[in-house]
Amino acid sequence: MKIDYSCVTRRTFLNTLLGGWILAFGSGTLYALCKFAFPTLGKEPDFVILKASDYLEIPVNSVKPFAWGGKLGLFFKNTKGDTFALKGVCTHMECNITYKPEAMKFYCACHKGWFDETGRNIEGPPPKPLEFFDSAIEGEKLVISRKGVKIEPPKA
Ligand code: FES
Repeated sequence: MKIDYSCVTRRTFLNTLLGGWILAFGSGTLYALCKFAFPTLGKEPDFVILKASDYLEIPVNSVKPFAWGGKLGLFFKNTKGDTFALKGVCTHMECNITYKPEAMKFYCACHKGWFDETGRNIEGPPPKPLEFFDSAIEGEKLVISRKGVKIEPPKA
């Protein structure tokens, strides 16, 4: 059966096909170049090494931030003087959290999520507890690592 009339001319069809191919090729190339130029972008590290004296001396019931890859990490000293390292990112939609010393809780301002000082989600939309890290002191260094990850920090 022959179609007498079409809304799309052969030229329009071929131009659209070529434009789509150029767009797909350009996007793929740009993505590959970005991955090559910034290989760690968006990735979280397995561990970070900090200067121990900068963190161990913080007052009780307070936090001190550190960089966990491109995300916020918090070094926390509770009211008993115990120290913890945790990811300072809400488990709901990844907003940064803050510590409220007067309430002794972590707070996410994005959707009013609350976590107790053990990181347990107690109020609001966060679906799970905060992520805590392992921490160890090695000489002058404070090594903070993802739980369960065995690391050998570089000597020197
Ligand atoms: S992102 Fe934290 S409560 Fe929604």
